[in-house]
Amino acid sequence: MTLAALTPDLVAHRPDTRTEWWRHAVIYQVYPRSFADASGDGIGDLPGVTARLDHLVELGVDAVWLSPFYRSPQADAGYDVADYRDVDPLFGTLADADALVARAHELGLRVIVDLVPNHTSDEHAWFQAALAAGPGSPERARYHFRDGKGEHGELPPNNWESIFGGPAWTRTTDPDGTPGQWYLHLFDSKQPDLDWDNPEVHAEFADVLRFWLDRGVDGFRVDVAHGMVKAPGLPDWDGHVAMIDGSDGSHAVDDVDGSGNHGPMFDQEGVHEIYRAWRRILDTYDGDRAMVTEAWVEPLSRLARYVRPDEAHQSFNFAFLAAGWHAPSLRRVITASYEANDAVGAPTTWVLSNHDVVRHASRMGLDDPTHRPNGIGHGDEQPDAGLGLQRARAASLLMLGLPGSAYVYQGEELGLPDHTALDDDLREDPAFFRTGGAERGRDGCRVPLPWEGDAPGLGFSPTGATWLPQPAEWADLAVDRQRGREGSTYELYRAALRLRRDENLGAGGLQWLDSPAREHVLAFRNGGVVVLANLDDVDVALPLDAEVLLASGPLADGVLPAATTAWLRLP
Ligand code: NOJ
Repeated sequence: MTLAALTPDLVAHRPDTRTEWWRHAVIYQVYPRSFADASGDGIGDLPGVTARLDHLVELGVDAVWLSPFYRSPQADAGYDVADYRDVDPLFGTLADADALVARAHELGLRVIVDLVPNHTSDEHAWFQAALAAGPGSPERARYHFRDGKGEHGELPPNNWESIFGGPAWTRTTDPDGTPGQWYLHLFDSKQPDLDWDNPEVHAEFADVLRFWLDRGVDGFRVDVAHGMVKAPGLPDWDGHVAMIDGSDGSHAVDDVDGSGNHGPMFDQEGVHEIYRAWRRILDTYDGDRAMVTEAWVEPLSRLARYVRPDEAHQSFNFAFLAAGWHAPSLRRVITASYEANDAVGAPTTWVLSNHDVVRHASRMGLDDPTHRPNGIGHGDEQPDAGLGLQRARAASLLMLGLPGSAYVYQGEELGLPDHTALDDDLREDPAFFRTGGAERGRDGCRVPLPWEGDAPGLGFSPTGATWLPQPAEWADLAVDRQRGREGSTYELYRAALRLRRDENLGAGGLQWLDSPAREHVLAFRNGGVVVLANLDDVDVALPLDAEVLLASGPLADGVLPAATTAWLRLP
């Protein structure tokens, strides 16, 4: 197989001369409980993040997105917020948040914070007031309280399932001890859904946005952005709710051109009015404040409606994450992504890992690399670590060569796999408990980062404590072991991010290149760089006159080996 004859093919995306920072940024996701611990309790915190911001500068990213650090009982690792205007003592104080933003700005990094508007914690003052106030009260009208069905109200108001497993309704108990109304929770029972038909809810979140914008944050990542508005009457639905359909990955790809039906709890027209209102607020601030939506919506043309000119700025591209490791599927998703986003003038984003999915270094080591289990544990198929890492490095180099904005999840720059043999009794993800262990849940991708190979707790915390154990083989993946080591994943990311910046790849265009190897190799030109990603297990001959700028693995004798990406300069 040879790439000797690369011929120009479809132009999927043209260069973008607009200069807002978020159009081309590489944004690094910090999951605060697992990034760095300054206090020594084994749980990461904001002072820990601040102290390690230099790492992000050295890596070469443009911005940081922080997962929630607000006051929370931590029933869903902080995605259950009890006070949107305060920092949980676990993570520090408001002053620590201010110090983090100030230091990041000094270092030239933007800061995006998480906004969780679909639900609050059941320990939020509003929900407590709703319980106390009783049926029919204005306090209950901020949530979805309903009487149950059945003779004594003993059946839930509809048949919706929680995304974490089990019913999406929980029955309350009245003060006199008798069973009361039910409330809706698309996630855990400790995460009651807000009713976005209620103007008080709108007013509250507008104020929360201003609270953080006034403190200087550069934007928001909006949690469950497609779920806030429910169909009127909350009708029954027999479909299966999931953060992304088809956990085998097939659906997201097959549905690129189709129409996704996600039931009466998702992607309702009313959500767009919320983004328009929030955009108006963001636009009153200086400095290109930005909003990225976590909307698990298909097809891509439907997702692009969240990033129309007067709505959010970006949306996570989960179709790319779900496309697996197959050249024609990836090409199709990449082309469709540009088509959909270019039509509304928004940048396309790219993401391979986050705190909700098995890390790509592990996913891609599975027998079927498009398979996306919700967590891996004892007794499950264990990934081939070597193959997974090789493919993950190739996938990352492919991603970073694409025009648009890329998201990097903490630790992927080290090639971290999931902890795939975590003891079940250490797990904390509510999805594990609500499915009776049928889903292992997301703890495996949330293990504290390794900073120093020889230190206790791999340098995560000054005491060596870590809230989840780190696999022993992570010592060699620690930042200090990889820094300056030729060929390390960390140095690969650094080199890629440097070249991406120097070559202005984020703002570039994408022209596909055709070749006899098209079934195995993705080939495209972005400005002065040609990206070749060999996704198969056959060796492919490189063009003879190629200058290799960077490669995800060793190249020998003019060959692009299996599971390898190269960035080339061609005459
Ligand atoms: C999406 C978040 O990324 C996830 O971690 C969380 O469990 C759910 N939304 C509910 O907030």
